[in-house]
Amino acid sequence: MKKTTKQIIDISDDNVIIKTEETLELNGLMPVTNPKSNDMKHIADMKSEFSQSMDPVLRMYNAAMNEAIARFEIIKDEFHFRNKRCPIHHIDSRLKSADSILGKLQKKDLDLTLTVACNNIYDIAGVRVVCPYVKDIYLLRERIMAQDDIFIMDEKDYVAEPKRNGYRSLHIIIRVPVYFMNKKQLVPVELQLRSLAMDLWASLEHDLKYKSHKNQEEIDFTAKLYECSRLIYEAEDAMEKINNLLED
Ligand code: GTP
Ligand code: MG
Repeated sequence: MKKTTKQIIDISDDNVIIKTEETLELNGLMPVTNPKSNDMKHIADMKSEFSQSMDPVLRMYNAAMNEAIARFEIIKDEFHFRNKRCPIHHIDSRLKSADSILGKLQKKDLDLTLTVACNNIYDIAGVRVVCPYVKDIYLLRERIMAQDDIFIMDEKDYVAEPKRNGYRSLHIIIRVPVYFMNKKQLVPVELQLRSLAMDLWASLEHDLKYKSHKNQEEIDFTAKLYECSRLIYEAEDAMEKINNLLED
């Protein structure tokens, strides 16, 4: 895991300012304490206020997400133009909703403020790039890191070290420059780089985990899912080796 930058996000009214290694200033923000009381009305008001003030912030993250997608689209286009096999199969993206950001803050027992959200949740903007082969993941990593206005904040290589359940993917939190009328912002975007095989496993595992109607406690699929991940890996590795022979 590599942390190369530390950033602080200051939000006041419609103004979102991302600072690097400065002290956080809270100007006219919502209350900074967690609602520990059972005052449901207070919590509802706080959530509604949070959602409303989230709008300009979400616009900023949406712009950053589009900027990150554009970088990959350009790479894709270049490969097509040169008549070379493209390392990108497809690109997915999603912007976290204000509700889901609130849910994550509550789960992490953090204060329900925009500032805390921006400084602790780095997957508000998410871009997933799915590649044919594992080697393409690292090729893309290299290409995107060579861009001198993109910065790495954090990296988790679950390809080199898969999760215990068999999940594999390369996760990188990057900061992407976004140009507004009178300022430039470096906004975090979560990149997930994975192969088609990794995407197959993760999509089905997600489906099994969240969409099953049966009580998950009763049946433990962990070992089976891990075995599926291993088998899928074996198959993709064999196919990548065939591709290596063809591309050499
Ligand atoms: P959060 O960002 O708070 O979720 O925790 P984290 O930063 O420790 O998470 P991590 O970087 O490991 O994973 C973030 C994202 O990767 C998730 O939102 C999923 O999209 C994906 N992911 C991680 N682990 C799994 C997994 O076991 N199965 C599947 N299907 N997806 C996963
Ligand atoms: Mg994360």
